[in-house]
Amino acid sequence: LIVPLIVCGGSGTRLWPASRASRPKQFLPLFGDLSTFQETVRRVSEPSVFGRPVVVTNHDHRFLVADQLLSIGVEADIVLEPEARDSGPAIAVGAAFIAERDGDRTLVLALAADHRVRDIEGFLGACIAARAAASKGQIVTFGVTPDHPATGYGYIEVGEEVADGVLAVRRFVEKPDIETATRYVREGYLWNSGNFMFQAAALLAEYATREPATVAAAKEAVADAARDLGFVRLDAEAFARCGKRSIDYAVMEKTQHAAVVPATFDWSDVGSWSAVRDLSPQDEAGNAQLGKGVFVNARRNLVSSESQLVCVVGLDDLAVIATGDAILVARREDAAGVKALVEGLKQTH
Ligand code: GDD
Ligand code: MG
Repeated sequence: LIVPLIVCGGSGTRLWPASRASRPKQFLPLFGDLSTFQETVRRVSEPSVFGRPVVVTNHDHRFLVADQLLSIGVEADIVLEPEARDSGPAIAVGAAFIAERDGDRTLVLALAADHRVRDIEGFLGACIAARAAASKGQIVTFGVTPDHPATGYGYIEVGEEVADGVLAVRRFVEKPDIETATRYVREGYLWNSGNFMFQAAALLAEYATREPATVAAAKEAVADAARDLGFVRLDAEAFARCGKRSIDYAVMEKTQHAAVVPATFDWSDVGSWSAVRDLSPQDEAGNAQLGKGVFVNARRNLVSSESQLVCVVGLDDLAVIATGDAILVARREDAAGVKALVEGLKQTH
């Protein structure tokens, strides 16, 4: 069985003001009744393929995670981080926990909690393809064909086929600048989708050759964890010694043992309000609404409103997001601007 490892400690600032520190985007029901965290867990619930999931999240979100799992009827082990140290330590403690619980040869599927995939069959097909390479000690990622030179993604130069549907990774470059990204798109690189399959021991060994102190600390944080109320509370002193780096910088850019399955399924990391519009039902003029919106002579806008009626007249390509205590009006494409706004607000508010 493949054990799902869902890392959901991100802050989701580009979807402010709906996404907040107390309730980041992966826990919001943006597309219907379920959050992307819940959809992610559901995607890997076929019991003939997947084992009992492990969720690694921030201590502050423990009840949110427990409630959201309960409401979809899924049991999981919930590993709690005392502080956010990026995705590298989250995946390392997850792998260490699974190695201890299920054996260190166990296949792990590390999943981001904030992605939207609708083609579940295609997704499962990619997992099956990845399994063959991961069983041989490869760290397998899932690649997506880029449609623009985004700078917020990892880029993969693909090599020869190493197994059915699996290609070697020649080079992995995390978040290149815009000129480099433009060249990579032209040269046929793939985006890293940010989901990985590996043997627990293989990931830990590879990580240990790059950052031995982080892996030692991650193992210690798991070994010394306190367990109560169904939570696994990582040892804070040990966890604080893990290098604060994403898995992409810590491992993927450096390893010689990476492979990629080019995804045939649809994929979005819902990285902006514009992406939310793209993934939502739209009227003939391309306007989408979550909640109450009215559009007159307006095109390609997104309105998200919890209670107020929001009307857009004579304007195009906006995101208008109204919550109980804040209203955002932005060009819908300007995710970087929203992120900068939130950074600024942290200083002043
Ligand atoms: N538990 C935990 N703790 N999870 C975390 C933490 C943390 O401190 N930090 C990030 N995560 C989780 C996020 O919730 C998300 O599910 C995943 O790790 C990736 O983190 P992001 O912060 O969203 O990374 P990114 O979007 O900048 O880049 C990654 O994803 C891209 C695709 O969406 C990279 O893997 C890129 O290479 C990739 O292209
Ligand atoms: Mg992300």
